[in-house]
Amino acid sequence: MRPPQGCRRRGVVLGTVTLCLAAGWALQTPGGVSLVVPQPNINATVAQNILLSVEYSCRGVATVEWKHVSSWGTTKIVEWRSGNDVNISTVYKDRVTTFENGSIQLLNVGMRDAGYYFVTVTEEYGTNTYGTIVVNISEIIYEDLHFVAVLFAFLAGVSAILICFMWLCNKSLHLFQKTTTPKLTGISLRVQSSHKVLKSQF
Ligand SMILES: *[C@@H]1O[C@H](CO)[C@@H](O)[C@H](O)[C@H]1NC(C)=O
Ligand SMILES: *[C@@H]1O[C@H](CO)[C@@H](O)[C@H](O)[C@H]1NC(C)=O
Ligand SMILES: *[C@@H]1O[C@H](CO)[C@@H](O)[C@H](O)[C@H]1NC(C)=O
Repeated sequence: MRPPQGCRRRGVVLGTVTLCLAAGWALQTPGGVSLVVPQPNINATVAQNILLSVEYSCRGVATVEWKHVSSWGTTKIVEWRSGNDVNISTVYKDRVTTFENGSIQLLNVGMRDAGYYFVTVTEEYGTNTYGTIVVNISEIIYEDLHFVAVLFAFLAGVSAILICFMWLCNKSLHLFQKTTTPKLTGISLRVQSSHKVLKSQF
């Protein structure tokens, strides 16, 4: 009666191991792709470069897709499969850099780039995960106003110097005219007298 008992125990152990493996597989598969968005809110100013930072983890090959949603509508920005070519939409050509961890960098942002950025990471078996980043963009910052003030001061200085220079030129021209006028009248007098001489000769 002993051998069958040992067999049964071995069978129970094998069954438990199989169950454990199956449970582990079942638990891991739905969470096969995960996404971390460390900064879901970004404040930027016009002409800045912004990093839409995310990090995904996935056991297989994943497809990353970024979309921009604002009051002007939804635009697809970029889509790529890890290790494959990056497909950037024409509107964003030369403005987008992609990173291995799923992040993208957007160069030289404008007011129209404000809004919601949706990232979707899709695993090869179809499971996917989403992330959202809100981007606020403001138009004028303190440095801009400062720059404008400096420019105005510079222009005012330049025009003041020009006005002084013109005044000086005018003044010296007057002086020059005063000193040269007597000589000029002398010459014209001489010319006139020679005319008279010529006239009297004929
Ligand atoms: C962005 O600005 C808003 C207010 O306009 C503020 O509540 C938020 O904390 C700011 N976010 C960051 C990341 O600085
Ligand atoms: C993703 O990669 C970029 C570039 O290497 C890095 O700057 C960024 O911090 C990364 N994001 C996360 C969430 O680790
Ligand atoms: C790139 O995206 C466009 C539009 O989304 C699509 O028509 C085109 O086939 C894609 N190209 C590649 C190589 O995936």
